[in-house]
Amino acid sequence: MDHPLDLSHLTAPDTPLAIIGLGYVGLPLAVEFGKHRPVIGFDIKPERIAELQAGHDSTRETTPEELAAARHLTVTNDPEALRPCRIFIVTVPTPVDEYKRPDLTPLLKASATVGQVLKPGDLVIYESTVYPGCTEEDCAPVLEKWSGLKYLSSPSPQPSPTRGEGALPAPHAPSDANLPSQPQPDANLPSPLAGEGPGERGNQPGTFHLGYSPERINPGDPHHRLTTIKKVTSGSSPEIAAIVDALYRQIITAGTHRASSIRVAEAAKVIENTQRDLNIALMNELALIFGKLGIDTLEVLEAAGSKWNFLPFRPGLVGGHCIGVDPYYLTHKAIAIGHHPEVILAGRRINDRMGAHVAETVVKLMLQSGIGVCNSRVLILGLAFKENCPDLRNTRVVDIIDALREYSIRVDVYDPWIDRAEAQHEYGLHCLAELPRVAPPLPSPPPPGGRGQDGTPLRQPDHPSPLAGEGPGERGSIGPYDALILAVAHREFIQMGAAGLRALGKPKSVLYDVKAVLPADQVDGRL
Ligand SMILES: NC(=O)c1ccc[n+]([C@@H]2O[C@H](COP(=O)([O-])OP(=O)(O)OC[C@H]3O[C@@H](n4cnc5c(N)ncnc54)[C@H](O)[C@@H]3O)[C@@H](O)[C@H]2O)c1
Repeated sequence: MDHPLDLSHLTAPDTPLAIIGLGYVGLPLAVEFGKHRPVIGFDIKPERIAELQAGHDSTRETTPEELAAARHLTVTNDPEALRPCRIFIVTVPTPVDEYKRPDLTPLLKASATVGQVLKPGDLVIYESTVYPGCTEEDCAPVLEKWSGLKYLSSPSPQPSPTRGEGALPAPHAPSDANLPSQPQPDANLPSPLAGEGPGERGNQPGTFHLGYSPERINPGDPHHRLTTIKKVTSGSSPEIAAIVDALYRQIITAGTHRASSIRVAEAAKVIENTQRDLNIALMNELALIFGKLGIDTLEVLEAAGSKWNFLPFRPGLVGGHCIGVDPYYLTHKAIAIGHHPEVILAGRRINDRMGAHVAETVVKLMLQSGIGVCNSRVLILGLAFKENCPDLRNTRVVDIIDALREYSIRVDVYDPWIDRAEAQHEYGLHCLAELPRVAPPLPSPPPPGGRGQDGTPLRQPDHPSPLAGEGPGERGSIGPYDALILAVAHREFIQMGAAGLRALGKPKSVLYDVKAVLPADQVDGRL
């Protein structure tokens, strides 16, 4: 048993560390730490473990070379392998349920897994995005229950928030039936110490520590990588906060920001994405207004952007499982303590309606061009929630598709980045494997190391160019589509240009540019 106040087991450079959840956030973290110290990467999905053991990362956030460089990393789906670890970092999803309430199921199940191997003096750090209070109020009790240990926190200067009367029900949490069955007492695990509770400082027998350090990575962004983004850290006491901070400073070259408490760090993360969501919502509302006024939104934003302090946000679909989801964690907590968040929810409503707005606009453009809408064919270019990335989670392109289908439009979808089987599984969409062979010659591909519109280096997809291998005799025919919607600005589509995209349509087809990446005078409409 560790001596009181002795935290050396947490600071030793060879202390084994566990990463729970090897997705977009967990794997890069496991790989980075795995270059320097023993790391057990744990994930419940056997197929994820199998692909990583084969040296392949389907999220494309780490290359086979980076995986190989993590010499001290072992990946597994066996929770027993976690037993030697003293520091546990939880990076599992935090989605919302169908009623937009936080769904804590993965987080609490991961906490139960950790709880079963937790030892006195161990440290559990959460990275998943949550509402302020979640780590200590929701996760700590699960760790306590499964470990038989007590959470040791410093006295907090602020009162613990309480749920308001008549507030929303608790977030969707798994029933005990969903959690792993209660483990048999383990000879290695001490029984909980009676009478011991939070409020004491330092390391105490029969207790564990908590940290929170939110992730800020931006999938598909080759510039902002795990190590080059400043990281917020926090801990359950000043001593633990210092240990958490020092741990991350081993891998984060951009430095860290030590927050004063776990709740401050939790709140900081959730407002980063809420602020972004609201800024985009304002741009979307402006796009709705300017659309009615017949003014091009991008031209207005470019003009306004000539002022030094005008923020460079753009209208668009807000998908993915962060920006469109995290604000609901904050609004849930706000309502639970008796505050109805008006601005945040208004922004969410506007952003969630943009897919339907795009569909309605395209239908109007088709009708104005004399195109019969019923049974017409529309091609959607891009399904991922953002450009140059295979991530399909919470993509709002599906809202465009759903709305078009309500007009009895036949919709095809093509995206060179995504896993088509995943699109079928998640959204019931049978995506095209390749574009119809009708387009004019493609411009030459950019040289290796080329740069995108924003100056960032281009990432290469696993897939070949959409029309690669096409012979000259197959070109020049007329495409089958009545309208084309450029929904995601993948570099392949930008390279095709308006002319290349138009070649996929009938002579009188509509070309709509959701992302405003094509010249305005070469498209029929854009947000
Ligand atoms: N993806 C991002 O860009 C990003 C950025 C910042 C923060 N976040 C936050 O980080 C967290 C993780 O996001 P992500 O994108 O890495 O998710 P993800 O879906 O890519 O990965 C999560 C992994 O956790 C695994 N998992 C689920 N339940 C588990 C359990 N009980 N035990 C072990 N493994 C389990 C899944 O199999 C999956 O491989 C979320 O809270 C998210 O909001 C994500």
